[in-house]
Amino acid sequence: MSNTQQRRILVTMALPYANGPIHLGHILEAVQTDIWVRFQKLKGEDCVYVCADDTHGTAIMLRAESEGIAPEDLIARVSLEHQRDYAAFNIGFDHFHSTHSPENKVLSQEIYTVLRANGHIASRTITQLFDPEKNLFLADRFIKGTCPKCKSPDQYGDNCEVCNATYNPTELINSRSTLSGATPVEKESEHFFFTLPVFTEFLKQWTRSGTLQEQVINKLNEWLEGGLQEWDISRDAPYFGFEIPDEPGKYFYVWLDAPIGYMASFQALCEKSGRSFDEYWRPGHNTELYHFIGKDIVNFHTLFWPAMLTSAGYRTPTGVNVHGFMTINGQKMSKSRGTFINASDYLDHLDPEYLRYYLAAKLSSAVDDLDLNLSDFVARVNSDVVGKVVNIASRCAGFINKGFDGMLSATCSEPELVQEFQAAKNEIAAHYEARDYSKALRQIMALADKANQYIADKAPWTLAKTDKQSPEVQDICSTGLNMFRLLISYLKPVLPTMAEKAESFLAIEPLQWNSVDSILLGHRISTFVPLMTRVEPDKVADMMSAVLASQTTPVAASNEMVEEGAPAIDSPLAHDPIVAEIEYPDFAKVDLRIARIINATHVEGSDKLLQLTLDLGVGADGKEVKRNVFSGIKSAYEPEALVGRLTVMVANLAPRKMKFGMSEGMVLAAGPGGKDIWLLEPDSGAQPGMRVV
Ligand code: 2FM
Ligand code: ZN
Repeated sequence: MSNTQQRRILVTMALPYANGPIHLGHILEAVQTDIWVRFQKLKGEDCVYVCADDTHGTAIMLRAESEGIAPEDLIARVSLEHQRDYAAFNIGFDHFHSTHSPENKVLSQEIYTVLRANGHIASRTITQLFDPEKNLFLADRFIKGTCPKCKSPDQYGDNCEVCNATYNPTELINSRSTLSGATPVEKESEHFFFTLPVFTEFLKQWTRSGTLQEQVINKLNEWLEGGLQEWDISRDAPYFGFEIPDEPGKYFYVWLDAPIGYMASFQALCEKSGRSFDEYWRPGHNTELYHFIGKDIVNFHTLFWPAMLTSAGYRTPTGVNVHGFMTINGQKMSKSRGTFINASDYLDHLDPEYLRYYLAAKLSSAVDDLDLNLSDFVARVNSDVVGKVVNIASRCAGFINKGFDGMLSATCSEPELVQEFQAAKNEIAAHYEARDYSKALRQIMALADKANQYIADKAPWTLAKTDKQSPEVQDICSTGLNMFRLLISYLKPVLPTMAEKAESFLAIEPLQWNSVDSILLGHRISTFVPLMTRVEPDKVADMMSAVLASQTTPVAASNEMVEEGAPAIDSPLAHDPIVAEIEYPDFAKVDLRIARIINATHVEGSDKLLQLTLDLGVGADGKEVKRNVFSGIKSAYEPEALVGRLTVMVANLAPRKMKFGMSEGMVLAAGPGGKDIWLLEPDSGAQPGMRVV
């Protein structure tokens, strides 16, 4: 860093909604951002990483209402849960804030006031559907009815999932509010709009001058060529958010104040760190601002946001870094497929550093989706991190500790080999800088292969058999440990916990990026501690069983994660009731039976599962068939209410060992989740053991 100036960089990732838990899609983004920030910090740049919970909107208001608590209490609880999950994945925020904060209120109102003074806020009266029972205007996703085109029932307010038609919610036949069941009525209300089209030329220029990815530029060009529309930034009371200045009863739409939350969080950080807010947010300072986001919210960050910032006299982002969605074994994350993995589900079973490594090994700077293929995950982490990197240290440490009292050789016996490792520094740095982590890790693993090959060729164990204190053994193992230290330096942005353990085993100060310029000579190491254990495939299977059990097999996927305003198209979280097609022979393998629940109990330590004893009637051998099944229906039923009820079960599902015991099958239920999970009607006439046809 000697002759270059320290960069001043502010980094954000998308603010997670406070209406649901952190899931692996959030973790993908957090890890991508965190690796970049850690890399900058290791290089010695002044880089800060801020985040916050995105707390406003109808969804949060309704959720709090259904839980019988104030929205403030809901968001306070969720904030703690979110921070706990991010911390477990070692996401090193410099500050985590809330959009429901005094800083955000002041900034949102100030920005709006400037936009209005600049003539960039228009107002007009619009007609919307209104729920006369709940007394609120209905966003499209709170309206259902029959598709006006193909007449399929039960379609959402703006598009039909059967024929793909898009329409106005007022065109739906027999529409109803999903909140109360009432028939919506049309009602007028004054709304406020941000005059986005005025910024078309500015946005064309910004798009071309910014460091946006090719795929994002293409999308932006499409939007810009298609013509921009004014953006509705207001919502009527009741709404959980900030009131619009001088407009009682009108609130900022959640997406107006959400990105301002980036500024608010940074402002709170300034108060504790002494940085200057204006140097990062007003034009004309040589600071850098990067937003990391998913591809579903590109319009908010590359159209509305830069236009708003410009009008309000703030700087625009240096870069908006967009990533794709996460898929699980090639499937969209979906509750109906049992592939919706929450961060806490993962953490219950697996080490977070495994996932950090796997994600990094697959991440590039493109907007491509990233597949978490679970068998590849096990193989990759075990082969690369445990089999290659940890292996170098575990092969060399014992000889140094036992034969040389922990002391490394005073000179380097393989300077060329070690220099090759050191020379990779700039290329690896360029890959991290460009967010091409997969390329960085490929290069690091190629070096790890070289280190292992060197140790295998020299076979210090053979030499040590005759002389434990042979200087050659000391040299070989010192070289091995130096190569290990260099690899750990390069891996530190990805594996901070493992790096910390390695630093303590090597008895060295925390590694920096430039630490690779030197090597350890005549240095005493500590005793070897296991740095990472192998991923056990059983643990992965346990995680997936628990995920599946906790999500039952609801027929309708929950759309609780889809916040208003986020485009549903392509969203990994969008309402998605159509389960992947299977061929008849696959279906025929599933043995569905009627079962009677003869016992149901709470499961200690689980907030989702009930333990059920199921009676499947009498088997071919004349004996009663009973099954023990763990089922994630606790949110909908008290155990007592289940005893005697009938359900459909998958009777030939191979038993699965779960954290709480063996589960011998799966109960089928339908519904969106929460309190709404339905079993068979109690008096359906079905008998235990009957095959479901
Ligand atoms: O898509 C989301 O999950 C939003 N909560 C992201 C907001 S990002 C920023 F604008 F606040
Ligand atoms: Zn239709």
